Amino acid sequence: MTRLIGLALISVLVATACRQAAVSSVVEQATPGVDPPATVEAPAVSDDVPVEDRIADLVSRMTLSEKIGQMTLVEKDSIDPDDIAPLGIGGILSGGGGSPDDNSAEGWSEMVNGFQSKAKESRLGIPLLYGVDAVHGHANLRGATVFPQNIGLGATGDPELVRAIGRATAVEMAATGIRWNYAPVVAVPQDIRWGRTYEAYSDDTDLVTKLSAAYLLGLQDAGDGLGLTSPSAVLGTPKHFIGDGGTTWGTSTQNIMDTPYQLDQGDTQMDEATLRDLFLPPYAQAIEDGALSIMASFSSWNGEKVHGSHYLLTDLLKDELGFDGFVVSDWQGVDQVDSDYQTAVIRSINAGVDMNMVPYEYQRFIATLTEAVENGDVPMERIDDAVTRILRAKFALGLFDESNDSDAVSMESVGSAEHRELAREAVRRSLVVLENQEQTLPLKKDAPVILVAGEGADDIGLQSGGWTIEWQGAPGAITNGTTILEGIKATADPDSLVLYNRFGNFDRNLANLDVDPADITAVVVVAEQPYAEGVGDRADLTLPEADVALIEKVATQSGRVVVVLLSGRPLIITEQLPLADAWVAAWLPGSEGDGVAEVLFGEYPFTGKLSYDWPASMQDVPLPDTGADPLFPRGYGLTTN
Ligand code: BGC
Ligand code: BGC
Repeated sequence: MTRLIGLALISVLVATACRQAAVSSVVEQATPGVDPPATVEAPAVSDDVPVEDRIADLVSRMTLSEKIGQMTLVEKDSIDPDDIAPLGIGGILSGGGGSPDDNSAEGWSEMVNGFQSKAKESRLGIPLLYGVDAVHGHANLRGATVFPQNIGLGATGDPELVRAIGRATAVEMAATGIRWNYAPVVAVPQDIRWGRTYEAYSDDTDLVTKLSAAYLLGLQDAGDGLGLTSPSAVLGTPKHFIGDGGTTWGTSTQNIMDTPYQLDQGDTQMDEATLRDLFLPPYAQAIEDGALSIMASFSSWNGEKVHGSHYLLTDLLKDELGFDGFVVSDWQGVDQVDSDYQTAVIRSINAGVDMNMVPYEYQRFIATLTEAVENGDVPMERIDDAVTRILRAKFALGLFDESNDSDAVSMESVGSAEHRELAREAVRRSLVVLENQEQTLPLKKDAPVILVAGEGADDIGLQSGGWTIEWQGAPGAITNGTTILEGIKATADPDSLVLYNRFGNFDRNLANLDVDPADITAVVVVAEQPYAEGVGDRADLTLPEADVALIEKVATQSGRVVVVLLSGRPLIITEQLPLADAWVAAWLPGSEGDGVAEVLFGEYPFTGKLSYDWPASMQDVPLPDTGADPLFPRGYGLTTN
């Protein structure tokens, strides 16, 4: 195997060396800025030339238009494929839910490879980066393995497990031709009312740093010694730099999907020492570990948009931390820097944004930046620096290498049994027991009757949350996997009668059975509806009345009740705790719901620990500001054996 790769490499080297000789002679005649010759072969790729020289050589041969093309990242439905080559477009992305019509691995691969082959037809043949938010698996793709959202991984506290998940995610992405992931989220949320709380591992900086580093390594290192050039290595994008989890309630000005945002994209109001202490360590670690792409935050710091801050993006991130990869903007993040688009572009590019996730009107961005450079509002050195950084990542990924083969990773890995088993293990280990009266847990598999109630008990969409198939996620059988109910049925003794009613209406079934209510076990699954970003900003995290009523109703029909919470953050349950015998926080476990069931019934122990403080009341939120004692502190979690 290794010998084969070696042979392949040698032949590529020989081929590229020949090609390079041919390239240089043509290229000398091309004067940057002037009409280039119609066809020039692929750029210098000889391996004996140091990468930095190859990049410099390439940049020196690019026209301004080609450079600005590289700095342009377009949403896949907005790009005219025939524009890719002439404009030299640098990247294309799928936003949340941005699936091809044929939402299968084959469909994705065909779409991405189609764009890529257009890019390779460009004058210099510079490949493009295709990016997705595979934030908990390649979860826009139907049938991919959907891992627990990061809040659940935080509860496992296990970097090895998180690294394995990064690896499996990268493999599933690469199988569809995608080598760029907008993950990990390295936010350290200070206010659980934020709709992105579940995207973050913890409210503790150290834990976030440790787990995000593990995830990034998993994405970027296949363990085959090839680093990012490995066919299954994926470029990670720690995000959102900086302070995204520290915004103040009510400071957001966005209104999307008829929802006024409160925290998301708002203003992080704190002094610099606090900003650095809370939010900088994960980035410093990521850069040390080879991060080459970092996403800027929509949010502001003390009133200034991060996208427009030279101090944060250039002085701090690039100069002080030594980040030599590229800063990608967030979705239309540049536009928010100023109400005048031209000013916004000039300010953000000068501040240090290297690639603009435009993502729609790329012609406008290109025209605006071109004019700004021609007017001297953005210096050519800034453009060259941005392009150099982008090309550095593309070279690092081996995208220029002839041996780079988008079909090298088998599509069989997408949603494979092996990856699902890994996800299921993560689910088992993410569960946190908040309450366990009289050793209700683990439940007895041989209870004569097991009642299961709540919409979330039998719903893959609810157990997966946002960023699953759709940007906002969606209830229902949106992808493949197992629900908690299916897991319960598979785990309970064949002789036990498992009854499911979403509304907890079991009277009629029970009337016909001769069983002592004391022998009846009940599982009530209480779930948040899916959300993403500021659409999930919520003033009130108390349990909805309907859920409380459901718990009460089921409790009257059974001897033992356990409540399983499916939520993207701690919910306020202080007053409801006595209504049930046991409470389990299951977070947003993803596609493998059977992992919840097998721990409930004792096939595995409960070991998860809270990675967030769990507040006692809404008045106590945000805990860092009120200083109130949490109901359950970070690190809490009862164990069973
Ligand atoms: C989010 C980013 C995401 C991007 C692309 C933005 O709305 O803030 O986290 O990577 O969209 O989907
Ligand atoms: C994208 C998000 C973006 C949102 C804005 C979605 O389709 O995936 O990243 O923030 O649109 O409306």
